[in-house]
Amino acid sequence: MTAPPTAELRARRWARPRQNRICPSILSADFARLGDEIASVARVGADFLHVDVMDAQFVPNLTFGPILVRAMRRLTSLPLDVHLMIVEPLRHLEAFASAGADHLIVHLEAVEDPKRSLREIRARGLKAGLSVKPGTPLPRYLEALPECDVALVMTVEPGRGGQEFLEGSEKRIAAVREAIDRDGLDCLLGVDGGIHPETAVRAARAGADTFIAGNSIFGTPDPPEALRELRRALERG
Ligand code: DX5
Ligand code: ZN
Repeated sequence: MTAPPTAELRARRWARPRQNRICPSILSADFARLGDEIASVARVGADFLHVDVMDAQFVPNLTFGPILVRAMRRLTSLPLDVHLMIVEPLRHLEAFASAGADHLIVHLEAVEDPKRSLREIRARGLKAGLSVKPGTPLPRYLEALPECDVALVMTVEPGRGGQEFLEGSEKRIAAVREAIDRDGLDCLLGVDGGIHPETAVRAARAGADTFIAGNSIFGTPDPPEALRELRRALERG
């Protein structure tokens, strides 16, 4: 019998010793075969599934909401890492939480009080993430890290898949890594945008431990092999 997708199982995944986390972003998946796409990367050790929620306000594109998260919850026991590229994200936390999200990531640029926003996520028993766009100064971001379980550094302008990793990202990743280590925080450092084997290694050297990848996994003819290749590249360093 296959194990049910319990919250306990997903929490155990979080508690694994720190290693490179690989998180396929379903934005580039074939939605007509979403169940198969998810199963194909789950089989080869995807750590989380990244779900990009866009509202056509915070970013120009429009994608999906809690209904899809609820459907995915029934398809997989993998933790669902939900990236809210939306204005007023706090109004929607409850809907995503009750749909079965495990991690809720809000944007620094979309919230007035980042620490309070993160606490509101944690209060629902979920992991709290804070994402920052490539052009946003870091000081306000770094201040909020103590309340954060996932620091997500955007390595492209958010809004669509398949873009190039931005030059200058490594410096920002390194600054976030320094703050996490200096304060001994229990916080993953994720990178999102333009991640493929070569840019993942660059990001890892700068201090990232969690790698969101859409196009370089689901945009290929063989997503499981693409995920394995990404992991091999990270292991080789
Ligand atoms: C971009 C999204 C990403 C996107 C990454 O706004 O936040 O998660 O899916 O896609 P790739 O890996 O194709 O750059
Ligand atoms: Zn994302």
